[in-house]
Amino acid sequence: MNANFTLVTGASGGFGSAISAELAKRGWNIILHYNKSASEAKTLGEAIRSLGVEAELVSADLSTREGPDKLSDEVRSMGVRLSGVVNNAGIGRPGNASNIRDEDWDAVLNVNLRSPVLLVRKLLPVMAKPSSVVNVASVSGIRASLTRIAYEASKAGLIHATRSMAVALAPDVRVNAIAPGWVKTNINSERLSDQNVVNGIIERTPLKRLGRPEEIAKLTAFLLSDDSSFITGETVVIDGGVSLT
Ligand SMILES: NC(=O)c1ccc[n+]([C@@H]2O[C@H](COP(=O)([O-])OP(=O)(O)OC[C@H]3O[C@@H](n4cnc5c(N)ncnc54)[C@H](OP(=O)(O)O)[C@@H]3O)[C@@H](O)[C@H]2O)c1
Repeated sequence: MNANFTLVTGASGGFGSAISAELAKRGWNIILHYNKSASEAKTLGEAIRSLGVEAELVSADLSTREGPDKLSDEVRSMGVRLSGVVNNAGIGRPGNASNIRDEDWDAVLNVNLRSPVLLVRKLLPVMAKPSSVVNVASVSGIRASLTRIAYEASKAGLIHATRSMAVALAPDVRVNAIAPGWVKTNINSERLSDQNVVNGIIERTPLKRLGRPEEIAKLTAFLLSDDSSFITGETVVIDGGVSLT
């Protein structure tokens, strides 16, 4: 088998690109997964290779039943060994318990919960021992606003799945989650384009600002690395304290 790689799903997005760049800076080879943003993924791949590490690209729509199979088959066909997996791809759709649409429920649960669990199971044969998984959850999975049922339920499920995975896959694979608060990326750019909404969040946040993708990236790198070698099944909240208020 070739060198060790870390797979980052949703590498084309705000968190995924910052995470991939941070890992590359640390000398890690990356497999960059994307869905629709092919040109962003290609540009990121070039930037990463210029740092002297390897970058491979793979696309898959993880909202479909076949998505995790397609992605895991392609990664396995690369003949690489995985020392890390970052389940970062995620989507949100509006809808509460009285009006959520079937297709929105299915898409959100498929991308945010079904794919992370099935992807890791399908990739186990090529995962190094030891290796580390980071699931990108959300503070919405801990303290829900009760307005976006699919997103909130998927992230709560991912936090609990993280604990199940940690127990089942130990001692070879550590599995942890992160629960970010507000960071401006494509997923929330519409809501955060309203300065009143941003001001309200900052007001409620003890550290008095939104988060930065680089901060999410550094925490992810810590949980992937040997620096966190005795941590598994945990969910680390990174939200400037907003979920305390
Ligand atoms: N930003 C925040 O404030 C915040 C807070 C808490 C948690 N999170 C979580 O952080 C993760 C990353 O989000 P982000 O903020 O970086 O948002 P983003 O910029 O919108 O990135 C989302 C990523 O998910 C990928 N994706 C979307 N639909 C997909 C599908 N059907 N199949 C496969 N991949 C798909 C996108 O790929 P393409 O662009 O290539 O389609 C993109 O790379 C998500 O899990 C999100 O729930 C974000």
